[in-house]
Amino acid sequence: MRKNIVAGNWKMNNSLQEGIDLAKDLQKVLNGKTIRCDVVICTPFIHLASVAKEITTIGLGAQNCADKVSGAYTGEVSAAMIASTGAKYVIIGHSERRAYYGETNVILKEKVLLALANNLTPIFCIGEVLSEREAGIQEQVVGTQIKESLFDLSPADFGKIVLAYEPVWAIGTGKTATSAQAQEMHAFIRKTIAGKYGKEIADNTSILYGGSANAGNAKELFSNPDVDGGLIGGASLGVDKFLPIIEAF
Ligand code: 13P
Repeated sequence: MRKNIVAGNWKMNNSLQEGIDLAKDLQKVLNGKTIRCDVVICTPFIHLASVAKEITTIGLGAQNCADKVSGAYTGEVSAAMIASTGAKYVIIGHSERRAYYGETNVILKEKVLLALANNLTPIFCIGEVLSEREAGIQEQVVGTQIKESLFDLSPADFGKIVLAYEPVWAIGTGKTATSAQAQEMHAFIRKTIAGKYGKEIADNTSILYGGSANAGNAKELFSNPDVDGGLIGGASLGVDKFLPIIEAF
């Protein structure tokens, strides 16, 4: 069956030493605890190799990868380079990458293929902006994001993807989707996957919720049948805030 996952997305935060300390502190508090989900931290590129040395049970991920294999692409970091640090995950298609760096469904499809080719698990982000929700077209938007970037994958490859539904209007705004809104969209996503790849693959796909998830609302969000965990931004930047979310399972 599908895994429950709580993943932190540090975004562009923490100096190298601050990141090492945060990872170390989190690993320390998790040691000896019974945790009912997989825990992942997605750090800036510069932290990956150092943080990899500090963690044992926590999974490590990057927040982006290049859409090219290697070569003269100044400033880019390839999926192979990420994998060489010990990272096992990579966030692809975060709304901030889509909005600020012009990442399209077609570009994201390339990134997914490169991540999979390097044995990284893509945490593929989808979600509508406020005007799309207000217009009632959120399912159409999310459905198109999934289809255009992921539905050319083989069933075996699709089975390696983790999805994260992040309504853009809920990211960093303190405005969380209601538990019912999250469940409704997650069920739609699972149905969309089932329509293409069948019920078994859909049932085995972890679909995380992201957008102002915190210690106060995680339990209710995660109690929904189609919500398999969270992709956590702000509340992943301190052990005191992140641990209760992990323990919500
Ligand atoms: P916040 O939890 O800060 O709203 O961010 C969510 C997010 O974008 C995680 O990828």
